[in-house]
Amino acid sequence: MNAPFQPARRTPTDAQIALAAQCRDGTGARDLNRSTVPASVYLSPERFEAEQAKMFRTLPVVIGPGAMLPDPGTAMTHDGFGVPLLLMRDARGALRVFLNACRHRGTRLIDAPEPTKSPVLICPYHAWAYSLDGRLKGVPRAETFPGMDKGEMGLVEVPSVEAGGLIWAAPFRPADPDFSLPEGPLAADFDALGLGEMHLYNRRTHKVRSNWKLIMDAFLESYHVQRLHQNSIARFFEDGVTSGDTVGPHMRSAVARVGGLEGVDLSDWPALRRIVTYAYQLFPGTVLVASPDYVNLMVLMPQGVDETMVEDFMLIPEPPRDEKAEAHWAKSWALLDGMVFGTEDFGAAEAGQKGLASGAISEIHLGSLEQGIRRFHETVEAALT
Ligand code: FES
Ligand SMILES: [Fe+2]
Repeated sequence: MNAPFQPARRTPTDAQIALAAQCRDGTGARDLNRSTVPASVYLSPERFEAEQAKMFRTLPVVIGPGAMLPDPGTAMTHDGFGVPLLLMRDARGALRVFLNACRHRGTRLIDAPEPTKSPVLICPYHAWAYSLDGRLKGVPRAETFPGMDKGEMGLVEVPSVEAGGLIWAAPFRPADPDFSLPEGPLAADFDALGLGEMHLYNRRTHKVRSNWKLIMDAFLESYHVQRLHQNSIARFFEDGVTSGDTVGPHMRSAVARVGGLEGVDLSDWPALRRIVTYAYQLFPGTVLVASPDYVNLMVLMPQGVDETMVEDFMLIPEPPRDEKAEAHWAKSWALLDGMVFGTEDFGAAEAGQKGLASGAISEIHLGSLEQGIRRFHETVEAALT
């Protein structure tokens, strides 16, 4: 295993220390209840539409890690949320998000699922040219638009922030989107994890034939790990002790090996990182898991009541320096993206969708190890009312 990546200058946030202390002391809140969730929440088109309206079109969502567009003077397109987006990092390194539509007659400006380097974007139709800060720079035969103020014809901007190493945006441009948690306590945690300085090793978009919440459910309980993942990662996760709290609608948790934190100075961040895996459920549809030496980010983009695109990102401390490091990360990527998520977790979500769609059961049952799922569904309910 590679060395953990945090230099000594980083320190954990108080919240990260508190979760570790709860793991060590066994004082994490225990929920010994059982509960149920109606099957209809995964099946109803009306319900899906309400979630889109009240959550995905209203709240800021994570688009991806800033590391997906690391270099100044680059742009890329993003279409997963149903709005054509342009992510652009200008010459000074500032990242902003715009609609990928020319102000002249609406033409899609570029197709670039991978970052493309260019000082200007030129519309393919009549060659209006835009700089990477969204300003309209050039109009051929400008005299044919008498009186037009180029200063008012820049690309339409989408509210966004880049904070803690993540790009958050509100693609449907709701009035006054609230970025205070992404820029505040969440960014503090992710900065402590060094997310903004990590290297994007790989990313891949999966098309999963299930409701987005069935995928989220798989990341909100550890009950399945020793079963579903028995042939992949189960052996790495024995004897875990967990703790968790919330940051507004977002959920934060920690898992440590039983006894692993005995005698550990909880302010010793490198020591803590070797033992504790922190996970964040970023409402509504993103999961971030910070393992000791890499980070997985999973962005859920619902396409329909029973179809979800999931973009899986793997971030590592630095670009692989040699073949040995490359081979190490290639193996991790194949295991996690190919097997654990791509085959096992998403496969379970698809199998669950099929079973629920058959009408076999009217509700799902959650045991005490699965109450994170109940809390997530309660947060969804609250967002819909
Ligand atoms: S539509 Fe873009 S320049 Fe005409
Ligand atoms: Fe899993």
